[in-house]
Order: sequence, then structure tokens, then C-alpha cells
Amino acid sequence: MAIITNAPRGTQDTLPSQSYKWQHIEQTALDTARLFGFREIRTPTFEHTELFARSVGDTTDVVQKEMYTFEDKGNRSITLRPEGTAGVLRAALQNGLLNDALPVKASYLISCFRYEKPQAGRLREFHQFGVEMLGSASPVADAQVIAVAKSIFDTLGVTGLRLEINSIGCPACRAKYHQALKEYFYSHQEDLCDTCKDRLEKNPMRILDCKSPVCAEIAKNAPVVLDYICDDCKVHFESLQSNLDAMGIEYVVNPTIVRGLDYYTRTVFEFVATGIGAQGTVCGGGRYDGLIKMLGGPDTPAIGFAMGLERLLLVMEQCGCEFPPEMGCTMYIGSMGPKAALKAVELCAALREEGFYGECDTVGRSVKAQMKYADKLGAKFSCIIGEDELAQNKAKIKNMKTGETQEVSLDSESFVDFIYGGTIDEMVDYTDGLIDLKISQMNLQKKGEEDE
Ligand code: HAM
Repeated sequence: MAIITNAPRGTQDTLPSQSYKWQHIEQTALDTARLFGFREIRTPTFEHTELFARSVGDTTDVVQKEMYTFEDKGNRSITLRPEGTAGVLRAALQNGLLNDALPVKASYLISCFRYEKPQAGRLREFHQFGVEMLGSASPVADAQVIAVAKSIFDTLGVTGLRLEINSIGCPACRAKYHQALKEYFYSHQEDLCDTCKDRLEKNPMRILDCKSPVCAEIAKNAPVVLDYICDDCKVHFESLQSNLDAMGIEYVVNPTIVRGLDYYTRTVFEFVATGIGAQGTVCGGGRYDGLIKMLGGPDTPAIGFAMGLERLLLVMEQCGCEFPPEMGCTMYIGSMGPKAALKAVELCAALREEGFYGECDTVGRSVKAQMKYADKLGAKFSCIIGEDELAQNKAKIKNMKTGETQEVSLDSESFVDFIYGGTIDEMVDYTDGLIDLKISQMNLQKKGEEDE
């Protein structure tokens, strides 16, 4: 039985009482990226395994150990996406997006899947917001992409994140660096884990982000890539820094960042939080100038990032960020008897048409139980319609906070007018900001019309 009532390890439910936080983060991220020209792209949750093996890299932990891969009924190897970049590039190539004016700018909100050991901030199903900018090699693009992430954090009120940047060079300088790494790691060969022994020849840079504590200790004294980058890459990296300085974005150069995916070239960066546990990297990204060509497309430089939304939420809660409150129930219209119930349904529909949250009984409860429920919902107003109210075509609307009542005709227009014209000053006191805002905006608009 437990298997039915327990979610799989490393997954999380977002309950109705919490989803407004996610909606706030997601909408802020999309809107902020839009200010930089990024529009949302939606791609499938699963892709052909080959796409990830080739782009993320078959010596990475993600591909070697963490992918949810299965054969579908047509004997195709399919993988639940472990990240978003590969799918965006596949979609861009398949749909000819690179034939449009460059750069192409896309943002995405996705769930990702990695078979990792779950811990705080590390899940098997997690969520990312990301952006990809395809078609610019300029360091201005790098700085703009970093600025998108920074701007999202600022808009959400996140403080205390440290931006760390590095350059891991281009294929030309990478060869020299690989050689230096190999020499270093060969001198510690016996102590490396089996996966890293295998990586030594194929891709020594991957040893730098191995999760085994012994490998991590050895990696501490390995040569750093910044000492090996060529003059072009140096100029690019310096120009990125000037651009960040120009925007007043603070950063530190961390020459040990290499990132865990194979496709990166030149700029790599991370936003790191202290205080949410070992998994402090809230956002990671970088340039991947060779990837589009490697996937069969035109030679197109590109850069992007993805932020982990579970980690972002942890950071926001830790630093006391505010979330705009949800829209609460405007009015609960209780009823006694089938005729009154129909009236309640009709009036609720009218309130909703005006954008207010109206509730009525959908269970068949007693009036007392209906009012108890209205209280639980935190309804601002309530009324009860029974035989008498129907006969007189009037009902008393009660302000649930002050207990005051006001008699209103039982028709849609009067109910809606009551809300608009209602006790605005009192309502502004409510903590429920959204509806107050809507009402004051409506009133301002009305006042403007009257003044004209
Ligand atoms: P990544 O560093 O693998 O990069 O993931 C980006 C972010 O996703 C991480 O910084 C972290 O916040 C979050 N994340 C990763 N794994 C987990 C997990 N198991 N549980 C919770 N959160 C996690 C990428 O995915 C690249 N595609 C980013 C990119 C886009 N580079 C260029 N464009």
C-alpha cells in the first residue's frame, strides 16, 4: 500500500497552499527575461537518448550515472531530460530557428530528471528556469545573459548570492590544459575512483567535478584552466568583466569552476548561496560555442544558464523574501434550499465574471457548516440566501472582519456594485493585497471617468 501513497524517492509535491510561491517565481523569471528579449520555448519532457549522450557528454556523471533512460514500445532509447539546453538546441535546429535574425533568445521552465542521491536541494525530479541565447560570440552576450539571472534574483529580493565566473578556454587552449591535467592526475592514478581512472585518457577535466571525496581532494591541487587559456580567450574573459563592471554586477573570478557538463567553452559561471547546505549552486551556465555544430547545425556560438527552482525557493525562504499573497475569497454566498442555491450559483458567476473570487455551497452543507467553511476560506464578505431573502429579493451582506452588514438586492449588478463600491478603506487594511489592488484600481479608473 505504501508504494501507492508515497511519492518516489527524490520527488516532491507542490501543494495548493504553496503553489502561489512557485507561480510568483516562475512569472517573475519569465517576465524579467522578457525584458531582455527572451521568449518562452516549450520542448518535450523526453528526447532520444543520443541527444543527451552527445551534448551533455558521455563521460559526465549525468550521462554515465544519472539519466532516466528506457526503451519505449517501439524499441527506441528514450531519456527523461536531465537538463534543458540540449532540447532547446534540437528544437531550434528542427524548426529552423537559426534562419531567423540572430541571436535567437529562448527561455524555459522545465522539470528535469537525474538519478542522484537525494538531499536538501538535490532531487531526482527538479525544476529549472533557463535561458539560451544562440548566435553571438561577443562577451556582451555573456554579460547580458548573466544580467538576466542577476535581475531575476534582484526582482525576487534574493540577497547573499555570490556570482563566480571563470573561463575554461576554447578547443585550442583546452588541448594544452588537458595535457597538464593528465600529467597531474597520472601521478595520483592509483587513488582515483574507477570512473575517474577511465576518464583520465578520455576527458581529464571531468575528474575535477567528481563527487567522490578522494578524487575531490586530489583535484584541489590540480592545475587551473585560467593559467592555460589563449590570448583570444583572455581578451574575451576580460571584456566580459568590463561589461559586468559597466552594469555594476559584482563577481569573483573562481578559477576552479569547470561545470559538470561537457559542452562548455570559454565563459562559465555560477551563482552560489551559502547557508542552504552543500547544494549551494542556485544557478549555473556558460558558453557552448561548439555544441550546435556538433549536433549537425551551422557553426553558431551560444550561451545560457539554468537556475534550480527548488534551491531558489530554499534561498528565498532563508533570506525572508516576500511572496505576494494569493487572491482570497471575496464573497461566500450561502444558501438554504434548492431555489436559493441556484440564486447563489448565479450571483457567484456574476462576481467571477468581474474577476472576483466567489464561492457557494457545492457539498450540500447546513447553513452553519457553510459559514464555518466561509470562515476557513477567509472570505471577506458572506451572505445567506433563504426563503425570506428570495421573497424580498434582498440579502444582508456581512463584512466578515468587522461584522457590519449591509442590505443588497439579490441581483448580479447590485452584488458586483457592492464589491466595487464597498467599504474600500476597510478593505485596504486586509493583508490580502491582490484584491484590494484590483478594487482600488477600479475605483481610480471610475473616478477618472467621472472627472472627465
Ligand atoms: P546544471 O549546473 O547541471 O546546468 O544545472 C543548473 C542548476 O539546476 C543547478 O545550478 C542547480 O540549481 C539545479 N540542479 C541541478 N541538479 C539538481 C538536482 N538534482 N536537484 C535540484 N536542483 C538541481 C544545466 O543544467 C545547464 N543546462 C545550464 C545551462 C543552460 N548552461 C547553458 N545553458
